[in-house]
Amino acid sequence: MVRHYILSLKLIKLKDFPKGAPEPGQAQGRQGFQRDGTMASETTHDASRALTGHHALVTGGSRGIGAACAAALVAEGARVTLLGRTAGTLAERAEALGGAVGWVAADVTDEGSVAAAVAAAREARGTIDILVNNAGGTASAPFHRTDRAAWDGALALNLTSLFTVTQAVLADMRRAGWGRVVNVASTAGQKGYAYVAAYCAAKHGVIGLTRALALEYARDGITVNAVCPGFTDTDMTRESVARIAETTGRSADQARQALESMNPQGRLVRPEDVAAAVAWLCRPEAGAVTGLALPVAGGEVMP
Ligand SMILES: NC(=O)c1ccc[n+]([C@@H]2O[C@H](COP(=O)([O-])OP(=O)(O)OC[C@H]3O[C@@H](n4cnc5c(N)ncnc54)[C@H](OP(=O)(O)O)[C@@H]3O)[C@@H](O)[C@H]2O)c1
Repeated sequence: MVRHYILSLKLIKLKDFPKGAPEPGQAQGRQGFQRDGTMASETTHDASRALTGHHALVTGGSRGIGAACAAALVAEGARVTLLGRTAGTLAERAEALGGAVGWVAADVTDEGSVAAAVAAAREARGTIDILVNNAGGTASAPFHRTDRAAWDGALALNLTSLFTVTQAVLADMRRAGWGRVVNVASTAGQKGYAYVAAYCAAKHGVIGLTRALALEYARDGITVNAVCPGFTDTDMTRESVARIAETTGRSADQARQALESMNPQGRLVRPEDVAAAVAWLCRPEAGAVTGLALPVAGGEVMP
């Protein structure tokens, strides 16, 4: 596979070099990207570290799916910046992931704090050419008891935040002529679930945004895809289990089993399952895949 990317010097079309010296173990030598998003290189490149030289920003990277995505991208050789609201959790996770990882504290619903965090990430680890829009969350309530503030909050966190963060990062990718945006949507973006109307509406919006941006930037070497996890074993699902137990009188085990049974494989999705899909979408060989909404849900959704 790697031979596809070891192209002759005359194919090299150097654009904006990712900033920063190679990390230990990274491939040495110049790399460039062609307009179609494939990579041209004048050096041998370790296929198992295909994202060497790239800088990924992972929102909600301190826990759950985002933390697993960060680990998968580091394993692929990328430098990674974790973004979240809680400095302590971010620092802990970054330290656990090693020297290629830093963090910035910001609330994705706050445009000013996102702009400052993106600028700090760029300053510390170079231009950002991979964005994983992962931060999100849900609260549940019957629709007739969902007030306007709850509706607005769900859309701000799960949809409008993608507008804010993607706009803050996109210029780097357009200048580089290469980029990867992966939006962590949900099966709730592909089907309906009762009691989470605002979340479902927002996640359906994420998939619409993904498809529109995929077309708009298709000729800029930028791919835009969504992954759609089913119920995944994270804090968010643990909170849902507790909420179901509290409102239905079921035990926590029964509530968890109810969520597991939504998945034809009879289990919760692992954060690593989602991260593997995200990392693959970022790899050079996924350059022709754009506008996809990829379920990672054990067969719960088959588009
Ligand atoms: N778990 C599931 O079953 C499931 C299924 C489908 C889709 N998803 C989606 O996957 C994504 C990650 O979910 P998860 O289960 O991994 O959630 P999680 O375990 O609750 O982690 C959420 C992450 O997002 C950060 N975050 C939350 N609000 C934020 C804000 N306003 N600004 C910045 N960062 C924020 C959190 O850090 P701080 O709290 O420190 O900010 C944390 O790092 C979400 O978009 C979710 O909708 C989850």
